[in-house]
Amino acid sequence: MWVTSVPGDIVYTNPRARDYTGQQGSRWDSIVHPDDVEALRCGWEAARLEPEAHVAECRIKRTDGSFRRHSVSFTPVCVDDGRLQQWIVIATDVEQNAEARRAEVEARHALKLESLGRLSAGLAHEINTPIQFVGDNTRFLAEAYQDMLDLLLVYRACLAPTTGEVNWDERIRRAHEAEIKADIEYLAIEIPHAVSQSLEGTERVASLVRSMKSFSYKDSTEQAYADLNEAIRSTVTVARNEVKYVADVVLQLGELPDVRCHLGDLNQVFLNLLVNAADALTDKDERGEIRISSATDGPAAVIRFSDNGPGIPEDIQQSIFEPFFTTKGIGKGTGQGLALARAVMEKHGGSIGMRSVIGEGTEFILRLPIDGKQNASV
Ligand SMILES: Nc1ncnc2c1ncn2[C@@H]1O[C@H](COP(=O)(O)OP(=O)(O)OP(=O)(O)O)[C@@H](O)[C@H]1O
Ligand SMILES: [Mg+2]
Repeated sequence: MWVTSVPGDIVYTNPRARDYTGQQGSRWDSIVHPDDVEALRCGWEAARLEPEAHVAECRIKRTDGSFRRHSVSFTPVCVDDGRLQQWIVIATDVEQNAEARRAEVEARHALKLESLGRLSAGLAHEINTPIQFVGDNTRFLAEAYQDMLDLLLVYRACLAPTTGEVNWDERIRRAHEAEIKADIEYLAIEIPHAVSQSLEGTERVASLVRSMKSFSYKDSTEQAYADLNEAIRSTVTVARNEVKYVADVVLQLGELPDVRCHLGDLNQVFLNLLVNAADALTDKDERGEIRISSATDGPAAVIRFSDNGPGIPEDIQQSIFEPFFTTKGIGKGTGQGLALARAVMEKHGGSIGMRSVIGEGTEFILRLPIDGKQNASV
């Protein structure tokens, strides 16, 4: 921060600015990149007429001689009769901000990949099952093809002119015998069945891979409009193996416009809530149920995750959103899931709430502004 006279002579430099730029002359524009000085001077002149701070962007010279982009605000300081007396100049290093933002996005992406890593054994199993029956079916189709080909060759022999001396009864007998050998009735039923099952298997693998791809999608630093119902489906697909032994997942996804968000972060929140619900249902005697619903409520999208698990005791309800609070054993939970969920929701200008009744279940409610948090870049 600097205070300058009206023509731009430096009157005061705060310690941070002194460290950052060193003492480089007595005029403020002596620390600005020569190519930016003219534009800055015009903006500065225009700012005389404005009651509010004027903001411009320019490159500022650091102590080591390098230039960095800064956002600079000029606030006029006037005396009682309205006459301009001084300027307060405040510069913010936008490159540093952008770097910090990039680093944060990278860190969040790493976290997401880590959870995909944790799911990987289950994912491998989910991929392996269809691959196995596609393999079995393909082997069956290869054998069936050979049987059909053998049969075709018998038909061809029966119809060939050189078989002229063999009477028709004998030809029909030979064809019939070959049909029995090939078990043509069985093949007529099983071949279409094997084909459709194989297609279904490849579609299952393809949809799993699509979900993994969309789940590990790398967020940019900017928010973008995204289909949250689709994101919920992807999350359920990638976590299927974590959930399928303990609960049925019921989706009640309503009409939802695209929501402006960081989709990767929200995927992570959905996954945390889903895995928490599955964990809560692990010790239940019968199979549990996890219900995920989505709806709009005015300008907000509302997504609920509810389970019919044991519920959360009242005395710990205050603590569950705290980082590292967990009731799970060592190696099972780190207590970061809900803390991260809350941070992500707040960053989106949204909220996360919880209702829980002992013995009945727990519901987490996510609320997100459909058009995103205004002016949010992270
Ligand atoms: N659906 C739920 N039913 C019952 N208890 C829950 C539920 N969701 C969360 N909890 C409680 O809240 C605690 C904190 O959850 P959080 O997701 O933050 O951490 P964690 O699941 O223990 O560990 P991590 O998510 O890091 O693997 C859990 O340990 C559990 O006691
Ligand atoms: Mg958790």
